[in-house]
Amino acid sequence: AQQPREQWGTRAGFLMAAIGSAVGLGNIWRFPYIAYENGGGAFMLPYLVALLTAGIPLLILEYSIGHRYRSSAPLSYRRISRPAEAIGWWQVAICFVIAIFYGAIIAWSASYIYFSVTGAWGDDPNGFFFGDYLQMSETPGGITGYVPAVAWPLVGVWVVVLAILALGVRNGIEKANKVFIPLLAVLFLVLVVQALTLDGAVAGLDALFTPDWNAMLDGSVWVAAYGQIFFSLSIGFGIMVTYASYLKRKADLTGSAMVAGFANSSFELLAGIGVFAALGFMATAAGTAVDEVATSGIGLAFIAFPQIISTLPFGGALFGVLFFASLMIAGLTSLISIVQVVVSAVQDRVGLGRLQSVFLVGGIIALVSILIFPTHQGLHYLDVFDHFINQYGIVLAALAMLIVFGWVLRRLPMFQKHANEVSSIRLGTWWKVVLGGITPVLLGFMMWDSLRTELTENYAGYSTGFLLSAGWGVAIGALVFGIVVSLFPWKRADAIAREDAA
Ligand code: PHE
Ligand code: NA
Repeated sequence: AQQPREQWGTRAGFLMAAIGSAVGLGNIWRFPYIAYENGGGAFMLPYLVALLTAGIPLLILEYSIGHRYRSSAPLSYRRISRPAEAIGWWQVAICFVIAIFYGAIIAWSASYIYFSVTGAWGDDPNGFFFGDYLQMSETPGGITGYVPAVAWPLVGVWVVVLAILALGVRNGIEKANKVFIPLLAVLFLVLVVQALTLDGAVAGLDALFTPDWNAMLDGSVWVAAYGQIFFSLSIGFGIMVTYASYLKRKADLTGSAMVAGFANSSFELLAGIGVFAALGFMATAAGTAVDEVATSGIGLAFIAFPQIISTLPFGGALFGVLFFASLMIAGLTSLISIVQVVVSAVQDRVGLGRLQSVFLVGGIIALVSILIFPTHQGLHYLDVFDHFINQYGIVLAALAMLIVFGWVLRRLPMFQKHANEVSSIRLGTWWKVVLGGITPVLLGFMMWDSLRTELTENYAGYSTGFLLSAGWGVAIGALVFGIVVSLFPWKRADAIAREDAA
């Protein structure tokens, strides 16, 4: 006998989970630098255009698909059209890859909460991170040694994530987000206030917000804006299809997409202020320009911030704990959503119960993650997986969705009708125009542009062999996996589809 599908307890619960998924490392360590690099204050305009013409419309599409078909990504797409199921399994494979390395960054953040208190990095954050902590080898490829100091926090991360997923949509995911998201907001607000009191904060804000209006004539700035919106809203890998499949019949899809989209952007703006205030302090203390210290990603979080924490005249430990705890919580709520995509897909496919699926699927993900990343080569794998799966997984899968559902199957009018039947804000024709025209063309252009760069120079100077296996191999492997799995005869899915029709 089949159990009824799980459901969110409240609309606020669903919103918290959706916001928890969107607000992640990208808000804290990616947005500030992207904005700074692409016109500063003037970036806000292309960014807002991207949010309104691609981000929110695509969120609405994913919400509508999940809500209409009430199943995981592959099964939802299968119900739209049998061959489209392949896109769903492709997204599942992408989520698998992202989950294994996202977990590692969260584990590092957890370690750094502790290191902020002990000041473990002394006066060499760079040497400490790459050498003492990660014990990173210069040569990528293979695996030459294991690093228990990274492995233990990683095991901890996976225990927490699997425990939350095991408790289910309502008692696990929803409850966790209802605690984590307000907690994150409070911690981060305190962090930003502390950053704003620092000497040089104003110089940092000047560097971030001084508009360079000429940037708006530069095509690459627009591409950066759309790229940030895609990454930041986690569009194109089935997460929102999955989360929306647990909504009740009556659900405000368009209103929720607006709230989630604007909440995520507000958090990015707040992070921009906090990060650049801190970078302004760092530059002032070193007697250099903000230009010299502005950075993003791993370099920002694990090198620049430790430096700032050490330089603070007082309150350094608090500042560090707030920063790394924010990073950890923002990452955890995103990781939960990524793993749920895989768990729910297998659950629907094989007919496993939730617990079995969490422990089987989640267990495999955790194991692979724990085997690969706490090693001397872990960071190299992470770097290359991250780059290739973002460029040739997420963006490409989103493009495939729009081409298949919009152009080939012409389902946008049907989804517009569906969203309008249940939502507060009605979708007009603009929604179909944007998703049917502008967005896929822009995505195609982004794809072509990054492919060109990829073929002219090896990413991050890695050898062609390593990029072929760890980069292209993984990105193309995800696509091949999607196609192969979708070709297997799927008895159970047929049964569900028949049940649904009856
Ligand atoms: N959207 C998240 C962020 O801004 C990133 C993310 C990636 C979330 C993958 C889920 C899955 O950081
Ligand atoms: Na985000």
